[in-house]
Amino acid sequence: CLSEPLKVMISGAPASGKGTQCELIVQKYGLVHISTGDLLRAEVSSGTEIGNKAKEYMDNGCLVPDEIVTAMVTSRLSREDAKTRGWLLDGYPRSAEQAQSLEKLLIRPDIYVVLDVPDEILIDRCVGRRLDPVTGKIYHIKNFPPETDEIKARIITRADDTHEKVKARVETYKRNAESITSTYSDILNKIDGNRQKGVVFQEIDSLLSQVKKDKLKMIAAG
Ligand code: AP5
Repeated sequence: CLSEPLKVMISGAPASGKGTQCELIVQKYGLVHISTGDLLRAEVSSGTEIGNKAKEYMDNGCLVPDEIVTAMVTSRLSREDAKTRGWLLDGYPRSAEQAQSLEKLLIRPDIYVVLDVPDEILIDRCVGRRLDPVTGKIYHIKNFPPETDEIKARIITRADDTHEKVKARVETYKRNAESITSTYSDILNKIDGNRQKGVVFQEIDSLLSQVKKDKLKMIAAG
């Protein structure tokens, strides 16, 4: 069949809405969602060697060493489902070294989406965020409260979602952002993430469908 799967990278500060938008993108495009934060949290909760190494960094709002995260991402990207369905990389690369690791392996996305949200909004979003450990769904105590009392009773707060740690995470993001965006400047699309999630998604959706069309045209043109 004449198709080449879509490869998408989504970036933005902590709580800019990456995970929230990824849920919507996956629903529509069926891409394999690879979130380094989710993968690391799963390692931590299973108590693996990687998880034990990563936990302290994560709990303190620091980046986990590149070699741990890079090995995890490249092995996930090389799996068959990511090759056939396409992928949506969320939270990686987060440093110039990580971006260079992918470049060396000739792994490049079709599009690099950056969600732009002001700092004061990020803090409120993080502090109010709750996760459903059963479904993995992301909630917010004010913006997106759980649908049922059952979910409300089981939602949890992330250890790195305190006011102080969010500030440190935002600073780390800002320190590294420029060195990463320069690698993808030709495919960069900055989006205002400080709007309703459906509105933000509409913009991402129209970008992705355009990229998909362009890819099909290129394949057809041989
Ligand atoms: P990670 O899990 O990637 O955290 P993050 O980048 O800090 O991003 P978040 O998950 O906090 O936010 P998000 O943008 O997904 O927002 P969300 O949709 O949840 O990483 C965690 C840690 O793992 C790192 O600190 C690091 O230690 C380690 N790590 C991960 N990747 C690494 C790497 N590559 N290298 C090294 N270390 C790595 O939304 C946030 C809240 O806002 C939610 O409550 C949501 O309901 C609400 N919300 C979302 N959209 C809207 C909207 N449009 N309007 C109103 N509210 C909204």
